[in-house]
Amino acid sequence: MIQEQIDSICQKFSNELNNVVSLQQLSELKVKYLGRKGILKNLLSVFNQDSNEDKSILGKLINQCKSYIEESLEKTQTAISNSLLEEKFEKEKIDITLPGTKRFLGKEHILKRSIYEMVQLFNNMGFFVREAPNIETEENNFSKLNFEDNHPARDMQDTFYLDQKYLLRTHTSNAQIRTLLKEKPPLRIVSPGICFRNEDVSIRSHMLFHQIEAFFLDENVSLADLLVVLKQFFLNFFSNDILFRFRHSYFPFVEPGLEVDISCIKCQQKGCSLCKNSGWLEVAGAGMIHPNVLNNVNVDPEKFSGFAIGIGVERLVMLRHDINDIRLFIENDKRFLNQF
Ligand code: PHE
Repeated sequence: MIQEQIDSICQKFSNELNNVVSLQQLSELKVKYLGRKGILKNLLSVFNQDSNEDKSILGKLINQCKSYIEESLEKTQTAISNSLLEEKFEKEKIDITLPGTKRFLGKEHILKRSIYEMVQLFNNMGFFVREAPNIETEENNFSKLNFEDNHPARDMQDTFYLDQKYLLRTHTSNAQIRTLLKEKPPLRIVSPGICFRNEDVSIRSHMLFHQIEAFFLDENVSLADLLVVLKQFFLNFFSNDILFRFRHSYFPFVEPGLEVDISCIKCQQKGCSLCKNSGWLEVAGAGMIHPNVLNNVNVDPEKFSGFAIGIGVERLVMLRHDINDIRLFIENDKRFLNQF
């Protein structure tokens, strides 16, 4: 009777053990059969009450069953632990024959690289870098540069005013004032930087853009010097076979003022969409520094003369790389940036 009971317990245990897949389940099974209130203990107490049976034989049978359960549990525990280890190794295995994962390095923005290059071209002609602040006084951005009080550029529509006194500079020409208030001629300066204008954003204009200012102040600097430097810069930046055209233009801080055009680099003046069939591209503003500006920074205009050049960075980069939308420069779209 008890013999059968023991057999069926062992059989049941075997079946349950077959379904065990984790160490957690295994220890639950152990408690269920061998624990203080487990199935075997229970059997022992039943057996103690039943005094008719041959105790020594039954005791032996129960012990056999117990050892069987203990051994089986141990074997299963080893098996599960090994397979967990294997799984872990499998996960951590490194196949050293696989090709490495490529690391993507960041790179400089096309604008930044182009600015370095442009500044370098001026460096080569003896110009040194001086930077001027983006947040500027109305005085340095306009008044000292000979803008009259009612000049339209001062208007709220073009200029981001911060308060009565300060604004976001609308051009890099503040570098002329900033430098000349501190240093005396002879001076050859190149000054790159960000400018801001309160304009509608479109494919051609943005409220945030970059300029490079270059100026040369010394005794006897003439318009001829200006033209040489301009030509040298653009021939280097584009190519040797461009033509130049200088048109008279007005900027309050230069006299005479020039608008600089180069022959279209795309169609060689045959006519295309880039030059709007005119054959010419506008690339810079320039001129001889106005005597009023020199007076404003305590430089004697009788003794010194100079020229200034203002170059729109985005415009030149767009021309060179055939980019048709200025907004791409600050959208951080990798499909655009990775092309350069
Ligand atoms: N500062 C002028 C502008 O932003 C450009 C310029 C610079 C013109 C120097 C002449 C001389 O439009």
